[in-house]
Amino acid sequence: MSENITKPRGTQDFCPDKGPIYREITRELDRYFTLHGIKLVDIPMFEQTKLFIRTVGDSTDVVNKELFDLVNKGESQYSLRPEFTAGIVRMFIENKLYASPDLPYKFGYHGSMFRYERPQKGRYREVHQGGVEILDKKLDIFTTVDCICLFHNFAKKLLNTDNLYVSINHIGCDETREKWKQDLRKYFKKHLKNMCPDCQRRFEQNPLRILDCKVEDDIKIASNAPTVDQYLLKEEKNEFELICSLLTKNNIKIKKDPHLVRGLDYYTGVVFELYQDNGDLQLALGGGGKYQNLVKNLGGPDMEGIGFSYGLDRLMMVLSQERKDDFLDKFTPEVFLFTFNKTEKGLTEYIKISNILEQNNISFTYANLDKNLSSTIKQADREKAKYLLILNEDLTVTVKNLLERTQVDIKVSEIAKYFERTK
Ligand code: HAM
Repeated sequence: MSENITKPRGTQDFCPDKGPIYREITRELDRYFTLHGIKLVDIPMFEQTKLFIRTVGDSTDVVNKELFDLVNKGESQYSLRPEFTAGIVRMFIENKLYASPDLPYKFGYHGSMFRYERPQKGRYREVHQGGVEILDKKLDIFTTVDCICLFHNFAKKLLNTDNLYVSINHIGCDETREKWKQDLRKYFKKHLKNMCPDCQRRFEQNPLRILDCKVEDDIKIASNAPTVDQYLLKEEKNEFELICSLLTKNNIKIKKDPHLVRGLDYYTGVVFELYQDNGDLQLALGGGGKYQNLVKNLGGPDMEGIGFSYGLDRLMMVLSQERKDDFLDKFTPEVFLFTFNKTEKGLTEYIKISNILEQNNISFTYANLDKNLSSTIKQADREKAKYLLILNEDLTVTVKNLLERTQVDIKVSEIAKYFERTK
């Protein structure tokens, strides 16, 4: 017997009970982006590996341990994208989008990204992300706060909940972080022998990454490590306070976390993550932050950026059954077709009917020709169709309203008008 081939570990099938939900979330994202003047873009699923090394950083787990490298014909080293920000900034520079005078530049995207993580609940190897990147010569406070509001408000609207909070921190400029790192090194040095091998490597490469460690004992040690607020410059402190105050006044629940660093190297300034308050899922629904040097470091103009990405798989996990049902209902067919007449003449008419429905944007489906009327009605009910359209032996049409269990006889030529009236 031949072996069954299964999906790769850490990936998901979106079968028909999930596919429409995912599609509707991405559709809502696109609508939300457009509502906020955010331009829709798409970038390649894979990039030159050095793009991620130079942006996400080789001290991070994302590059160090989790990159999916592609084996190819040796011309170049490619990796599947482990996130979008680096690729979006590369797109921005390569296509000279900065030549447009219409600042700030706002880009919205969604799609798959890949990280070779240990699969567990809410943690996958193929992840569906949706997000926004905003670039400007100097990001003003309104744009900064607006970005965090967008981040919070889309999720609130999608999930139809007030049960969310934004965990937020300010990690300062390079100099601020350098001072913080020095003191973190002093602190962790005392504990290093009791910490995991990854943290021992992180200690050498970048002690900030230790604050991201997921090992229970290391989390305990890190909880007493120096916090960034002691090192922030006066203007950084003021900026952070203003951001927090504007968010709070805009009814966004925030929790300051002076240990929040995020797992990617390009961040400077404000960083944030979105969580469910008292929810089952303890993992972040999304994350983001400001990156002052990324565009310049990739060879672009001196511009700042801020952005965020949601984990769409996680948003799907916490979406209420009610909303899921709403989404699934959007994909139910309006009309179910059935024919008693299976002669060539009858089939010609049946095809004509399907063309009329298509031309008039009336969604429809059908059972196979072998099914009898009663099992077709059962199938139509299961698929929540509103009408059953029956082509009779004499090529007249009967339309059954499946919700009200009423019916009328009409001619083929009257179909378009009939459904126009029922809309
Ligand atoms: P990130 O925090 O690495 O940030 O990922 C954003 C979100 O993607 C996470 O909060 C989480 O919801 C989801 N996610 C990440 N990894 C996994 C996984 N293995 N399984 C399931 N969900 C996952 C970024 O990717 C940044 N590029 C965000 C950003 C945009 N910063 C600035 N602009």
